[in-house]
Amino acid sequence: MTVAAVPGPVPVRRELLARRPARALVAPSILSADFTRLGDEVESAIAAGGDLVHVDVMDGHFVPNLSMGPAVCGSLRKRFPSLFLDVHLMVSDPLAFVTPFIDAGADLCSFHVEAVDDPAAVAGRIRERGALAGLALNPGTDVARVMPFLDAVDLVLVMSVQPGYAGQSFRPEVLGKCRSIAARLGPAQRLEIDGGVAPGNASACREAGCDVLVAASAIFHATDRRSAIRGLRGEAPLS
Ligand code: DX5
Ligand code: ZN
Repeated sequence: MTVAAVPGPVPVRRELLARRPARALVAPSILSADFTRLGDEVESAIAAGGDLVHVDVMDGHFVPNLSMGPAVCGSLRKRFPSLFLDVHLMVSDPLAFVTPFIDAGADLCSFHVEAVDDPAAVAGRIRERGALAGLALNPGTDVARVMPFLDAVDLVLVMSVQPGYAGQSFRPEVLGKCRSIAARLGPAQRLEIDGGVAPGNASACREAGCDVLVAASAIFHATDRRSAIRGLRGEAPLS
């Protein structure tokens, strides 16, 4: 007797980014969450409409700040088995970190083009380990640096602030890069923007082709997280 294949949680989670979403996906970044109550903060952000969770990893070298390691990712995976975990590696040596994060439950690992000599090899390692691969670029990095590697990745992450800290001002000059990248991506590839994204600039991001919007302060510091997330998607406020 053949047993029908039941999709496990991993393929189900990965489906989230597999095709162009009908409306932009919102990724609350836990960098601005209250770390003493992290699990409840994530639950609140998802209950408010967040589609996936963005985990910012900083090594004190690629960026001048330190944040969280694989244990945080593992704890979130344990409490939220079906939650898509989007890990943003702001580290000088992403190859040293992809396996621990994927083993801890990361669905997507993004690394920076500025940090590596061979982006296709790093993306290949991430995919080999069973996760989706993302390629990130800083506000000052020329879009030409990522163009040769688009076929090797599942997502491009355009930074709209200098990475390292939450709460900085959005840099609208990166939207031209978003347009150039969006024009070259296929239907199974996503364009994510990260840094200073808020309801007031989200429509410009969406118009530039971004379909995954990361926001830390605009969600976790909002008095009404549901309204903040609706505002990021361009949905009318609930009356
Ligand atoms: C910045 C991080 C961002 C950050 C965004 O280095 O990569 O993900 O959490 O924070 P906000 O949305 O507050 O700019
Ligand atoms: Zn980030």
